[in-house]
Amino acid sequence: MSVPPRGAAPHQWRGVVEEYRERLPVSDATPVISLGEGGTPLVRSDPLSVETGCDVWLKYDGANPTGSFKDRGMTLAISKAVEERAKAVVCASTGNTSASAAAYAARAGLTCAVLVPKGKVALGKMAATLVHGARMLEVDGNFDASLNVARDLADRFRVTLVNSVNPFRLEGQKTAAFEICDALGRAPDIHCVPVGNAGNISSHWMGYSEYLIDSVIPEPPQLFGFQAAGAAPIVKGEPIADPQTIATAIRIGNPASWEKAVAAASASEGAIGSVTDRQILAAYRRLAREGLFVEPASAASVAGMLQLHADGRLPAGRTVVCVLTGHGLKDTEWAIAGAAPPVTVPADADTVAAELGL
Ligand code: F0G
Repeated sequence: MSVPPRGAAPHQWRGVVEEYRERLPVSDATPVISLGEGGTPLVRSDPLSVETGCDVWLKYDGANPTGSFKDRGMTLAISKAVEERAKAVVCASTGNTSASAAAYAARAGLTCAVLVPKGKVALGKMAATLVHGARMLEVDGNFDASLNVARDLADRFRVTLVNSVNPFRLEGQKTAAFEICDALGRAPDIHCVPVGNAGNISSHWMGYSEYLIDSVIPEPPQLFGFQAAGAAPIVKGEPIADPQTIATAIRIGNPASWEKAVAAASASEGAIGSVTDRQILAAYRRLAREGLFVEPASAASVAGMLQLHADGRLPAGRTVVCVLTGHGLKDTEWAIAGAAPPVTVPADADTVAAELGL
C-alpha cells in the first residue's frame, strides 16, 4: 500500500485486521475490536550490522498499544469472540497476554479473567492488566499449570480461551511477517524471535508461508527461535517441570505450540536454540544503548543472533530481522539494577554543571 504524500489525503494505520483484512478470517459480520495495533517500526541497527557484517533490522513490536506483539493476535481473538457472542474471556499469562486481553476485552465490553503464576509477573504487566478491570487470579504454580487451568475452565464453562491455542491469535500474529516483507520489499534471509509458549514463531512462519504461496516473496527466511537456557524444553527435547530465567515472559516449561515451532524451524532450515540469562541481559543493555527499551525476554532474539554469529552460523551479507517482542517499561527491574543510581543535586545550574563535568 502506498502512502499518499503529506497533505494529499489523511492516512492513519488502521490496525492489523483492516490492513490485512483479505488475509484474515473475518467477514462483514465481524465487529472489529482494534486499538490500532501493528504497523510497528522496523529499525535498522547500524552497530549490530557492523558487528555481524549483515544488514540487521529490529522489528519493534513493543510499540504495540499494550506494549507487546500480543495485540496483533488479541484484536482478532476478541473480535471473533464478540462475533460468536461470548460474554467472557480467559487466559493464562506471564503478563503480556493478560495485559493485552484485558485491554481488548475492556474495549469490547467483555468480562476478562487472567491466571498468572504467583510472584512471577513483572509489576508493569500486573498494572496494565488490572487497570482495565480484569479479574487477576494468581495461581500457586508456574505458567504451564496456569494454562492447564485456563484450558480446563474454557472446556467446561462458558468462557472463551484467548491464549495462542486459540487459532485466531496466531492468525493475527502472522501479520508481523507481512509487515516485515512489506517494509523490506522482500523477506529477510534470517528471522530471529524469542520462544516461550511457541505461538509467535509458529505464526510468523504462517505469515511467510502465505506470502510465499501467493508469490509475494520468492523465498522465505530461515527461522531461528531462542528459548532461555533455564527454560528450554524444545532444545532439551522434554518438558521442564521447573523452568527458571530472569526473562519471566518466556519462563515456560511445556510450550503449547511445541510441534508447530519445531515444524517452522525445520521447514525453513532454521533451528530452535537457547541463550543464557547473561547473554539475554547483555543484548538487553546493548539494545537500550541504541535507544530501544525492550523487556529481557525480547532481547533473546538479538542474543540468539549474536550467538549464531559467534558460532560462525551467520554468513556475512545476509539480511536479518530480530523481533523485539515487548516494551521495556513493563518490566523495569533489570533496567534499574543495571544502571548508575541518580545523584541528588541542589536546584542550582553551576552545581549541576560541575556534577556533569561541563
Ligand atoms: N516475548 C514476550 C515479551 C512475551 O511476552 C512472550 C510470551 C514471548 C516473547 C514468547 O512468545 O509464547 O508466542 O513463544 N508471553 C506469553 C504471555 C507467554 O503470557 O504473555 P510465545
